[in-house]
Amino acid sequence: MKHLLTTQGLAKDDAILLLDTAAQMAATQSRENKKLPTLRGRTVVNLFYEDSTRTRISFETAAKRLSADVINFSAKGSSVSKGESLKDTALTLHAMGADAVVVRHSASGAAHQLAHGGWLDAGVLNAGDGMHQHPTQALLDAFTIRRHLVGGVGHDGRGTDTSAGADLAGLRVAVVGDVLHSRVARSNVYLLHTLGAEVTLVAPPTLVPVGVETWPCRVSYHLDETLEQWQPDAVMMLRVQRERMSGGSGAFFPSPMEYSRKFGFDARRLAVLPDHAIVLHPGPMNRGLEISAAAADHERSVIVEQVANGVAVRMAALYLLLSGETGQTTDERNAQ
Ligand code: CP
Repeated sequence: MKHLLTTQGLAKDDAILLLDTAAQMAATQSRENKKLPTLRGRTVVNLFYEDSTRTRISFETAAKRLSADVINFSAKGSSVSKGESLKDTALTLHAMGADAVVVRHSASGAAHQLAHGGWLDAGVLNAGDGMHQHPTQALLDAFTIRRHLVGGVGHDGRGTDTSAGADLAGLRVAVVGDVLHSRVARSNVYLLHTLGAEVTLVAPPTLVPVGVETWPCRVSYHLDETLEQWQPDAVMMLRVQRERMSGGSGAFFPSPMEYSRKFGFDARRLAVLPDHAIVLHPGPMNRGLEISAAAADHERSVIVEQVANGVAVRMAALYLLLSGETGQTTDERNAQ
């Protein structure tokens, strides 16, 4: 695998390899010396055209823990503000000898264009492109679900992870909220399906994308009914992306109050779930809108742990891409 652009078409063997490698990376992160020499002499560029806290910092941490040289590029303060194109930026990175480029961009398809535009030799990792895909977020979500619900790690996250090699067959995951604008939802639906989990998307009709019927999941417009009758093992709340609504005005339908009442996750809804169920959120959270503070900070919330797991997952992705040890995506195999 040269690039990690999408979870759609990611072969199950490669997904399991990424999760198992992340588990090995996570084990090294509890040591006093967290640094591995694996990518010494390699250069990783973080190319962020959109704001980020978790993804940018965790890719930077992951690359440094693998001893790579890291260059952080943010569109603000760069020649992008003078009108420089993605192509010319890519050619500049190529000239500087980038081995891997981690890219976040507001345009769906930007990571694919960077990987296949013929401008770079580097491996490209998609850190979120528009409303399309965010594959490492889905991998860290699957990693977190697997550790808790398959691998024997309890709600404190401190048990022994015995999940190596396992998929997520038999698990039910409800993905709730602003699906329309969510690259996290799309990436999770495809990855969770590949790993054998059942997924139900729960959203108001106005926040469900056209074409969702082709996705490998069910769709519900009723949160309470889904929680009570379907009894999911994991509930993944999505951020309401007001900056992408109504041309950035933030106005959306239903109103925030109605949205919160019908689709917000709180302690009352948490109490309906099975005792083992966990609550996820990719962050950043709108506390009081899609999730209450009580639910976000509850002992069954794994939101902070997701962030920590993101470092291990991104270490695994960088390692496997730059060492060339993983196989190929199904699409790449089929293309041969
Ligand atoms: N989950 C996520 O992508 O968060 P950031 O926007 O902070 O990177």
